[in-house]
Amino acid sequence: MNLSVQLAPRNQHGLLLANPVMTASGTFGYGTEYSHTFDIQKLGAIVCKATTLEPRDGNPQPRLAETSCGVLNSIGLQNIGVNALIKEKAPLWARWQVPVIVNIAGETIDQYAKIANELDGVAGISAIEVNISCPNMRAGGAEFGANPKSAAKVTAAVKAATSLPVLVKLTPNTSDIAKVAVAVAEAGADAISLINTLKGMVIDITRRRPLLGNITGGLSGPAIKPAALYMVYEVAGAVELPIIGCGGITTASDAIEFIMAGASAIQVGTASFANPRAPLDVLEGIEQFMKKEGVKDIAELIGAARR
Ligand SMILES: Cc1cc2nc3c(=O)[nH]c(=O)nc-3n(C[C@H](O)[C@H](O)[C@H](O)COP(=O)(O)O)c2cc1C
Repeated sequence: MNLSVQLAPRNQHGLLLANPVMTASGTFGYGTEYSHTFDIQKLGAIVCKATTLEPRDGNPQPRLAETSCGVLNSIGLQNIGVNALIKEKAPLWARWQVPVIVNIAGETIDQYAKIANELDGVAGISAIEVNISCPNMRAGGAEFGANPKSAAKVTAAVKAATSLPVLVKLTPNTSDIAKVAVAVAEAGADAISLINTLKGMVIDITRRRPLLGNITGGLSGPAIKPAALYMVYEVAGAVELPIIGCGGITTASDAIEFIMAGASAIQVGTASFANPRAPLDVLEGIEQFMKKEGVKDIAELIGAARR
């Protein structure tokens, strides 16, 4: 069986994954945190926590709240910053078989470009995922992704700053995600990932106050799966680029739904909190499904529900 997928066919380096199962940024640390739970080298790719130019402490606590079939988070991009990532993490990744993709975030277009430029040519980094979709930043983040023009500007600036494959991660918190996808594709993105979290909130009724320190947060987990699946279907119909589907994927059948909607690869996020082996379980489940259905190549399933 062939499970391999090429996510950046137009890029000089390409981004060839052994299989379509990736981890979602912010839910799998730098990969190292999970390496004792299962053989992470078996995955298609690992996407690390968002990286900013300078280290960030993130938002005030509390930053996580469990909701019906989901989780609301307002971490606020706590991370070690791009210099420490290059010094401390990339040398470890360079010894790994699994490609590592660095998720980047900024408050200005210039910051995105600077980070992308720093990462260019660093051993151990296979691609960049541009996070124009974080709902937990005071400036930048999802503001760029909500509008086709600003999304295209960030994409073009990042593309000009690096030769690495560039994946652009879209926010569902916009009126027409397909329009943003088209703008990002025209600006030169190699692939598109979607979706990031949906903006939401929880109120603590005894304190009569919003529960999260940041007041609002981003909703993830099974609660958002049908919305995410629909958006992947929409975007797959609007652009020719490879698409990476994400949002509530917990089981192999969830993942196969996204693949049939048009995703060439998928990301497992919140599911890893309850079951750290979730990405591997999803991969093994896809393999079992393919065996049972007599599918020889994953390409037969990509977009199958569209034909
Ligand atoms: C605690 C937490 C932190 C996250 N941090 C990031 C991040 O740093 N960058 C990013 O692009 N997405 C981040 N996300 C969004 C996820 O990568 C993913 O897009 C979203 O959670 C939907 O997928 P899921 O329902 O499988 O979790 C985060 C999500 C959670 C729950």
